Amino acid sequence: MKVTVVGAGNVGATCADVLAHKDIANEIVLLDIKENFAEGKALDMWQTAPIDLYDSRLIGSTSDYSKTANSEVVVITSGLPRKPGMSRDDLIQTNAKIVKEVTEQVIKYSPQAKIVVVSNPLDVMTYTAYLTAKIDSKRVIGMAGILDTARYRAFLATELNCSPKDIQAVLMGGHGDTMVPLPRYTTVSGIPVTELIAKDKLQAIIERTKSGGGEIVNLLGTSAWYAPGAAAAQMVEAIIRDQKRIYPCCAWLTGQYGIKDLYLGVPVKLGKNGIEEIIELKLNAEEMELLQNSAKSVREVAEVLDKMNLF
Ligand code: LAC
Repeated sequence: MKVTVVGAGNVGATCADVLAHKDIANEIVLLDIKENFAEGKALDMWQTAPIDLYDSRLIGSTSDYSKTANSEVVVITSGLPRKPGMSRDDLIQTNAKIVKEVTEQVIKYSPQAKIVVVSNPLDVMTYTAYLTAKIDSKRVIGMAGILDTARYRAFLATELNCSPKDIQAVLMGGHGDTMVPLPRYTTVSGIPVTELIAKDKLQAIIERTKSGGGEIVNLLGTSAWYAPGAAAAQMVEAIIRDQKRIYPCCAWLTGQYGIKDLYLGVPVKLGKNGIEEIIELKLNAEEMELLQNSAKSVREVAEVLDKMNLF
């Protein structure tokens, strides 16, 4: 079982490292355009194998996609990260071209692969990969919901002074300020979160979650990588091990939630075929309005892509 991670920057390297430690693939190929960079990262990681005791072989490559051939899953992290003051959408002009070029190579060498997209603006870059790969949309999935939900769960764990393991939550919509955390579907070991936390405190956590990526950009001067890398690795694991796990992921909608022809975050079941099912929750009117609003803002960015005439 082979996995490729394209982009050996912070997110890609973290993803490869987390995957190696999960020991679920025989081979993990890390590829980057920067000369010798992925080779160096992969070699350093491989030298942790005798310490941390895993078998996954790590292989670095400078733009040689033949090394990625027949990957089961390919994670695309390529593209520029955000700088302070930028929105994810500001990256579209640069990153759309990069994601298109990368996807062309990926699919040429691994026509059966499932593709997990991490590049920003996430929803529209997943759409870009889908348009390029021309494969079943179930095999092109964006990573955002696991990350955004993790931020939400981490903030709740801090507030409630409890283990983050016990917090279950769903979050929908685009990977941006219009994302929709769903308190009605948030529990702490089965206890509705609303029974444990005051309404205003919960609302403040929801707002902090929505700008959770920006908070890190402001602290670090660049985008986050530990949680994004780990989140992408979790998706890869669900696919490789055919776990049928239910996660919020960016998926191609064909009428679910009244939304059609758009990549957007929804709960899905992930297994060996990629997205095995899109789960339709019975949202109330207020939740549905927030979701539609988020879909509208993602569609506006998708229209920018359409105007670039790349396809
Ligand atoms: C973030 C970036 C990866 O949310 O989009 O941190």
